Amino acid sequence: MAETVGKIIRVGVLTGGGDCPGLNAVIRSVTKCLIYDYGAEVYGIHDGYAGLVEHRYHRLTPEHVSNILTLGGTILGSSNKANPFAYYPPELLGRPDRVAEDRSAACTGLYNELKLDALICIGGDGTMAIADKLRTDCGMNIVGVPKTIDNDLAMTDVTFGFDTATQTATEAIDRLHTTASSHHRIMIAEVMGRYAGWIALYAGAASGSDVILIPEIPYRIEAVTETILRRNRSGKKFSIICVAEGAKPIDGEMTVERVVKDSPDPIRLGGIGHKLARQLEDSTGIESRATVLGYVQRGGSPTADDRTLATQFGYRAAQLVVERNFGRMVAMRSGEISDVPLEDVANRIRTVPLDHSLLLAAKAVGTCFGE
Ligand code: F6P
Repeated sequence: MAETVGKIIRVGVLTGGGDCPGLNAVIRSVTKCLIYDYGAEVYGIHDGYAGLVEHRYHRLTPEHVSNILTLGGTILGSSNKANPFAYYPPELLGRPDRVAEDRSAACTGLYNELKLDALICIGGDGTMAIADKLRTDCGMNIVGVPKTIDNDLAMTDVTFGFDTATQTATEAIDRLHTTASSHHRIMIAEVMGRYAGWIALYAGAASGSDVILIPEIPYRIEAVTETILRRNRSGKKFSIICVAEGAKPIDGEMTVERVVKDSPDPIRLGGIGHKLARQLEDSTGIESRATVLGYVQRGGSPTADDRTLATQFGYRAAQLVVERNFGRMVAMRSGEISDVPLEDVANRIRTVPLDHSLLLAAKAVGTCFGE
């Protein structure tokens, strides 16, 4: 792999997995820091690992990343289907004989063709797992930057995107509150988060939801029913429930919305909100409605916190490249911007600990977690 000593530093950047507010802020930060401070050449790879396999990219200049700090999504495009080690050829799309192939050699080909010193991979756990394999199996110099609205990446206290998603979900639940109280209904907001309950816990607590259901605490429907009926007897004729898409009953499974066949992480959760609405209408006799917040949680402009976190993460990633400190992922650890070994992040997720202070505080103010 190329040496940087006495040479122009050449860096690739890609965004993988589901999009997330703050991705553009990282791209801007990485690009400007590397160009302004080190005269580097920066290449934006298109659509995550798909662009790496298919050699789709363009050179990034400060002009390309101007005016994108506040922009949602990613100017580079993303994909949560593209795994170079098990790649479904796009040219065979729709054909029954389409099977996954190892296209990692094509990735190494582009890396060498561009004479990259490093590849910065911005993404969630799936992106980090592939990045780590590109490091170990293909010898690439990798720096990871953690992103996900789900906040479920191991080894970092927080990921950018989470604050924006929580803010969006909280505002939505606030709106459900007024319609719930007007119609004396049970209103259920289903939020994202995959196998972790971070968004549900934070948006549920911030909105004062009466019930919060998270994957970490399998719920008893009887406990939820009893909470709602108790509120009703005390004169509160409506209830708000914030349910994580990964929440599950104590004697049941998570609700799967679809299986994305050609994705490295094929299970998509969803549907628990409507299921709960039907069950609770039966068990309480109170009219119930569910709202699935879905992709609005991922879209739109990042909050100030996410913009500033993403800017610091991008800066740290640029520093790691310049120091040739590879195989690391930028992280927030005990309030400090830091970095951790990529291999410690790959194939792990971080769920809500049962002694988390917000969980304990929410319980203390009477929120039901279905226990
Ligand atoms: O990881 C982010 C996330 O939005 C999850 O909260 C959700 O379960 C999943 O992605 C949805 O993925 P897709 O974009 O493939 O539908």
